[in-house]
Amino acid sequence: MDEPAGTAPPPLPALRGPWWRDTTVYHVYPRSFADGNGDGVGDLPGVIAHLDYLEHLGVETLWLSPFFRSPQADFGYDITDHTDVDPSHGSLADFVHLIDEVHRRGMKLVLDTVLNHTSIEHPWFTASRSGRDDPKRDWYIWRDGQRADGRGRPNNWRNMLGGRGWHHDAGTDQWYWASFLPFQPDLNWRNPDVKAAMLGVVRHWLDLGVDGLRLDVFNAIFKDASFADNPRSLRPLPTGSNPEGFFQRPLHTLDHRDTFALARELRGIVDAYDPPRFVVGEVMGASGVLREYVGAAGEGLHLVFMFDTMGTRFSADGFRRLLADAESAFPAPLQPTWVFSNHDRPRAMLRLGDDPRKAKLLAMLQLTVRGVPFIYYGEEIGLSHVEIPAELGLDPIAARFRWVPRWLARRLRGRGILLNRDECRLPMPWTAAKHAGFSRDDVVPWLPLDPRSGTINVAAQDADPASLLATYRRLLRLRRAHPALHRGAMELSSTGQSAAVLAYRRVDDSESAHVMLNMSDATVDVELPVGVHALHSTIGPCVEVTTGRRRLAPYEGIISLSTDAGPRPAAAAGTRPLR
Ligand code: NOJ
Repeated sequence: MDEPAGTAPPPLPALRGPWWRDTTVYHVYPRSFADGNGDGVGDLPGVIAHLDYLEHLGVETLWLSPFFRSPQADFGYDITDHTDVDPSHGSLADFVHLIDEVHRRGMKLVLDTVLNHTSIEHPWFTASRSGRDDPKRDWYIWRDGQRADGRGRPNNWRNMLGGRGWHHDAGTDQWYWASFLPFQPDLNWRNPDVKAAMLGVVRHWLDLGVDGLRLDVFNAIFKDASFADNPRSLRPLPTGSNPEGFFQRPLHTLDHRDTFALARELRGIVDAYDPPRFVVGEVMGASGVLREYVGAAGEGLHLVFMFDTMGTRFSADGFRRLLADAESAFPAPLQPTWVFSNHDRPRAMLRLGDDPRKAKLLAMLQLTVRGVPFIYYGEEIGLSHVEIPAELGLDPIAARFRWVPRWLARRLRGRGILLNRDECRLPMPWTAAKHAGFSRDDVVPWLPLDPRSGTINVAAQDADPASLLATYRRLLRLRRAHPALHRGAMELSSTGQSAAVLAYRRVDDSESAHVMLNMSDATVDVELPVGVHALHSTIGPCVEVTTGRRRLAPYEGIISLSTDAGPRPAAAAGTRPLR
C-alpha cells in the first residue's frame, strides 16, 4: 500500500448521512487498556494518555466498556450507580476530561449502558429486598415460589448462561429474577418509575455529550408478564444467530415485543439530540430478529451487533454468505456491523491460527465492507488468545464453570463460547517493558500479560511498515479518504474469480473500489478491473499498479481503485431517505 504508516489521518470528510453510519469504532475494555494511576487496573486517565495513539491509528469512535461505580463482581457490568465513575477507574472529572479530549480530536465517544440489571449491592436492590412492602420492591422482578411452602422456582426459565435464573431470598421468602449472574438482578421495566429512572441514565450521559450508547443485553429487558414456562427444546447450546439453547426456547425471556417497542422509543429519545447520536444493541438472533430491533424502516436501534461474524469459518465461501445475508437483512441506508472479537468471546487471532497474513486479510475485509466496523483493543497488533485455566480465572463465569474439564472448555472455545473471559481481556501490550507499558514496572497488572508481549506490542510494530498495526493504519486512512469505501454501495462479485477469492465492489459517484481477498493458502490469479489507478495490498506498503491479470499470494488481499464508478449496484447507499 502506498501511504506510509507515519502520515497523519486525513481530516474527516463531510458525509452525506449521519456520521455514525460511516464511522469506525474501537472498543476499549478500560480495565485492560492502560493503567494511569498505578494500581494495576486500567482506568480513564490511562485511556486519555493513549488518545494520540488512537487518533494516529485512525479510528473515529471509541466505545468504552463500563467504568461506573461497581463492586466489580462482573468487572463493571454489575453497577451500583449508573451515573458515576468507579474510583478504580478515575473520577467524573476524568470522564469530562476524556470526552473533551476525544472531541478535541474530532473523534466520538460511546459508552456501555447496562439498562437490564444492577448490582445486587445497588441501593435500589438493597431497599427492594428489605421487605415486601418496601417502595422499591416492585423495581425488581419478585415472584412467589410454586409450592405452598414458598419453595420451588416460579417457573422453568433459564438465564442466559443456562442456569436457573430465579434466586430465593430467605428474608422475604420470594424469588428474584436475574438474566445473567445471580448478583445482577433484573430491573422491572414494567414499573414506570424504573423506566423513568433508566431513561434518565440514558439522558444523563447524552446530556454530558456522549455520542452514542452500546446497550448491554438489550434483548432481555422485557420478560413476558404472564410468567408462563418457556417451551422445551432439544438444542443444548445457543449461538449468535439462535438464542434457543439449554433445552428451552426463550420465548418469554428474550426478544419480547415490548423490547422492540422500547427500541423505537429509545430511537426517538436519542434522535432528539443534536448533533446526532446513536445506540447499538447487544442482541442476538437470526437476521429477522435483529431486523425487528432496527425496525422495518430503520425506526428502532440505529445499529445491532451481528455475532455470526465471530462464528464464521475463515473461507471465501463462509464470508460470501455472511456478506450476502448482511446485505439482505440491512439494505442501505441501514447498516450492518462487523465485529470479530470482543470482551466476551475468543479473540479473532485464535480462529486465525495466529497467522498475521490472515489477520491483515480480515482487517481489509472489516474495513472495506459496507457497515460499521468494531475493532477490539489489541486486535490491531494481533493480540492473541492465552489459555488461562478456569481455577485461576477472575471472571465470575470462570468461577461458575470451574468444574468443566479443560478439554471441554477448549472445545467450547472453538465454538466461540468462553468459560474464562479473562483470556480475551489481557492487558494491552504497549512496549517490551516488564509489564508491557500497561502498568509501571513495580505494579503487577490485574491479569497476566500475554507471554508474547515482548515481541507483540505497539512499540515493536509502530515503526515496521509491514506490521499488522501499519496495515490497520493504512486501511483506516484509505477508508476515510475514499467515499466509495466508507459510504459506497456494495455489490458482491461472484463471477470471474477463483472460488478462494472473496470479491466485492464499493461504489460512490465517480469512484469504484474493487476488493479481492484470497482466503486460501495457494496463489491465485485474478483479473483486475479496467481503469485502476491505485492498488493497495495487505502484503506490503508499496504495490505497483498493473492492468489485466495479477497474481495474489496466499492470504493476500487487494483493493483496486478506479475513477470510473461503473453502474451503481441496485440497492445503492443513500438512494433512500435517511433517518
Ligand atoms: C454482556 C456483556 O458483554 C458481558 O460482559 C456482561 O458480563 C453481561 N452482559 C452482563 O452484563
